[in-house]
Amino acid sequence: MEPRPETRLVVVSNRLPITLWQESGEWQVHPGSGGLVTALVPVLKNRGGLWIGWLGTSEAVEFEKLEPATEDLGYKLIPVGLTAEDVKGFYYGFANEIIWPLFHDLQTRCNFAPEYWQAYVEVNRKFAEVVARESRPTDYIWVHDYHLMLAGRTLRQRVPGLKTGFFLHIPFPSVDIFLKLPWRVQVLQALLDYDLIGFQTMRDRRNFIECIQYLHPEIKTRGRGAVLSIPWGERQVRIGAFPIGIDFHGFAERADSQEVADQAWLIHEALPNRQIILGLDRLDYTKGIPERLEAFRNALSRYPDLHGKVTLVQFVVPSREEVPMYQTLKSQIERMVGEINGRFTRPGWVPIHYLYRRLEWDELIAYYRTSEIALVTPLKDGMNLVAKEYCACTLEENGVLILSEFAGAAAQLHRNALLVNPYHIEAVADAIHRAFQMEEGERKFRMRRLRESIRTFNVFDWVDSFLQAAFAIKLRDFPTLEEYHPPIHAGENPPK
Ligand code: G6P
Repeated sequence: MEPRPETRLVVVSNRLPITLWQESGEWQVHPGSGGLVTALVPVLKNRGGLWIGWLGTSEAVEFEKLEPATEDLGYKLIPVGLTAEDVKGFYYGFANEIIWPLFHDLQTRCNFAPEYWQAYVEVNRKFAEVVARESRPTDYIWVHDYHLMLAGRTLRQRVPGLKTGFFLHIPFPSVDIFLKLPWRVQVLQALLDYDLIGFQTMRDRRNFIECIQYLHPEIKTRGRGAVLSIPWGERQVRIGAFPIGIDFHGFAERADSQEVADQAWLIHEALPNRQIILGLDRLDYTKGIPERLEAFRNALSRYPDLHGKVTLVQFVVPSREEVPMYQTLKSQIERMVGEINGRFTRPGWVPIHYLYRRLEWDELIAYYRTSEIALVTPLKDGMNLVAKEYCACTLEENGVLILSEFAGAAAQLHRNALLVNPYHIEAVADAIHRAFQMEEGERKFRMRRLRESIRTFNVFDWVDSFLQAAFAIKLRDFPTLEEYHPPIHAGENPPK
């Protein structure tokens, strides 16, 4: 298909890429953070794009008042209004108590409440209605993540012929786990209403295809390479693996700034003559934080040469705090940190610095830049961008990445990271010690290659490969705002 100059990218995700809060009764807005936002903002900006999503609150927000604050984002935000009831059943319920644990292989944490499913169906329909209203037939609709697996179905019914793609940022589980989902057939069939379905890794793609073939053994895949297709009714649905990357140069350039260098120096100055081991995660049971703390405790017990010579700086970023399981996790982490510090602290050395808060962008990059070791040990993760961001900011190329083999990033970085099974406490402890002892030559050898790979397969490459597979359009074929003059159809008012 020929690229069309009027094609706009319409991104749809559960959350809009902003954070909102109230100050003296007035709504304040800030561009948001997080993997998906980091990944997509650079590719939407100045390309006439739209981003459709939830504002993150069920309170009535006068969106017009937010517009001036979002003007310099460079793309238009369209909110989907959700009631408190919607949020409860759809977001906290189906998305975070069913799909999130199930797709991360933690089926015993699932709460398969039937009313959650009703809310999920209803809210997916709401999203699709807003997309149908706001988009033009020439747009490309790119729906993101597990909150919106059903939206493609309503879109296909409402606007036949609209091109749609879906990307799952989290893992797709193996068939024996997926089949536990009471609504497995509906979810699989709805996903097949998208024209292209993208996964983070080949393993996720294989799991998905095996699920389809379990329910429809007659279906055979066609093609080879990263994108396959399967016949589905009258259509061919394309299914691909597109490992997400980061804006490598954005991170590396900021890490090279004087402000970050100063902050990095100050951080290390406060922790002199020792290596900083950095842990940085959203509060989430999939991130393996208690297991990591256990491994650190084990390392301190078995390797006394680490005493006074390493500090684990563990950031935990607040997330989904209303979900009881997350509150329990927070208490567990805090208890473990207390126990470990209580046992090993001595004058001038506290083994774990624990910070429960959000970080500013520069502060984050300064920690990345100054830490000698990054400990990224999720029990399961779609990709894990912390691993990639850490490498991008390690300008001296002397950091060591310890990485869980169950993070999607492991498929790309396994050769030069120290790969660990996060459940194997002693093996993680050994990896910490090995990283601590690693000579500069080996550190540089590994980090240089990690950075090369992350630089090459960056976020722009990710978008390009998805859009190429979608309909042979490359990122550069999307018009910038300056070039973009939307067509005026007969009977339609000129756009304001
Ligand atoms: C993961 C998901 C994202 C989600 C993010 C934050 O990375 O893949 O879709 O936005 O977590 O979670 P939250 O529930 O706060 O949106």
